[in-house]
Amino acid sequence: MGSFIVEGRNSLEGIVDIGGSKNAALPILASTVITGREYIIENIPDIEDVKDMLEILSSMGCSVQFENDIALIDTRGLNTHIVPEKLVRKIRSSIILMGAVLQRTGKVEVAYPGGCEIGLRPIDLHLKGLRKLGVEITEKNGLLIGSVNEPASCDIHLDYPSVGATENIMLFAVGNTGKTTIYNPAREPEITDLQNFLNICGFCVTGAGTGIITIEGKRIENTDTVEYKIISDRIEAGTYLSAAASMKSKIYIRNIEKSHFKSITSIYEDAGCEIRETHGTIVIANNKRIKAIEKITTQPYPGFPTDMQAQVMASMTVADGISIIEETVFDSRLKHVPELQKMGANITTIGRVAVVEGVEKLFSAEVEAKDLRGGAALVIAALGAEGTSKINNIHHIKRGYEKFIYKLQNLGVIITETAR
Ligand code: UD1
Repeated sequence: MGSFIVEGRNSLEGIVDIGGSKNAALPILASTVITGREYIIENIPDIEDVKDMLEILSSMGCSVQFENDIALIDTRGLNTHIVPEKLVRKIRSSIILMGAVLQRTGKVEVAYPGGCEIGLRPIDLHLKGLRKLGVEITEKNGLLIGSVNEPASCDIHLDYPSVGATENIMLFAVGNTGKTTIYNPAREPEITDLQNFLNICGFCVTGAGTGIITIEGKRIENTDTVEYKIISDRIEAGTYLSAAASMKSKIYIRNIEKSHFKSITSIYEDAGCEIRETHGTIVIANNKRIKAIEKITTQPYPGFPTDMQAQVMASMTVADGISIIEETVFDSRLKHVPELQKMGANITTIGRVAVVEGVEKLFSAEVEAKDLRGGAALVIAALGAEGTSKINNIHHIKRGYEKFIYKLQNLGVIITETAR
């Protein structure tokens, strides 16, 4: 499964270029099947989750080329409504293909995504929304079988602003005649990017980023090639910010949209880092031990993102004082805590709350990445620790960080990868 070997007590210096957003790319790639046509999509991150999604499209009859962060996709050849089970098990977010495939073919068969490393992750809100829009869904032997009899347009009130449910509903509703309104949708920038992409395709979606999304459904006659550029990855940018904050550093983080991650930069400004922004570049400079942050609670956007909880925790393990970090979005997203403890972090957990008492320094250890962001947090901890650390199970990290080693090496880090 591979390991990273990281030499500690580094300081970070240099420039890092942020790639395209994983969580924007995945639903946009899924939505290419709604209409059979060609797409040229730029700024697609070169990560395992994207490769898996492209493999799914290809296995369903679409033609796919991916090079230099550009995907050329032709979905005219889609020849099945069955999303291959083996690949769905590899990439949980392939569930967002449900709405898109239903819209194109009127039916779908997809494996029920089980729980994953960060918790149970039910999809009841996806199914409730699609059923309201006229999809009949049965569950049999771990498979979800959907068919559309009378497609409907209607008002949908989400009990929770689920990112995936909002996307699935959007992808199905865009092609149904009539107006669908989603109340309490997810407001993440990736939802706005999906809306922008769908509108470039010729659909009519408004309101993303607010508390109400309106979809004026329509069939698309125009099948000209669609060209689009994905937004940059705020979580990747935030991860490098956390790394810089946890040690002596001065780094330039390029190709970012600062407004997308205010809740992260404000934490590090409060912690004593100097952060400046110029034209899509953030400069973070830190020459002393950061101050602990009283309390951080993960929330749906625009709140503090759960996808940054582990990395911020890693930086707070060496802060001056006590930080309290509460995870409210996922039920099992503190698995990095025992691994950080192996490196000398002083963390106590009570349910989903972690009390982090900063120590002067961490020590090297052999640790296991348990999930994507938790794995990145261990790399951050290892960068500042004394000695050489080994981080195992790095396939989790590769799911979501492109050219991770290369980008860290560019910042002066001594890091290598081994096959075992
Ligand atoms: C997406 C992101 C993930 C991020 C998460 C929250 C992608 C590919 N993944 O995941 O990186 O951590 O948003 O920002 O974009 N829930 C239900 N029922 C549902 C759907 C969700 O109870 O039908 C619960 C989940 O179990 C979880 C919470 O709602 O506790 C948030 O889930 P959701 O917003 O749907 O996250 P994902 O779309 O899975």
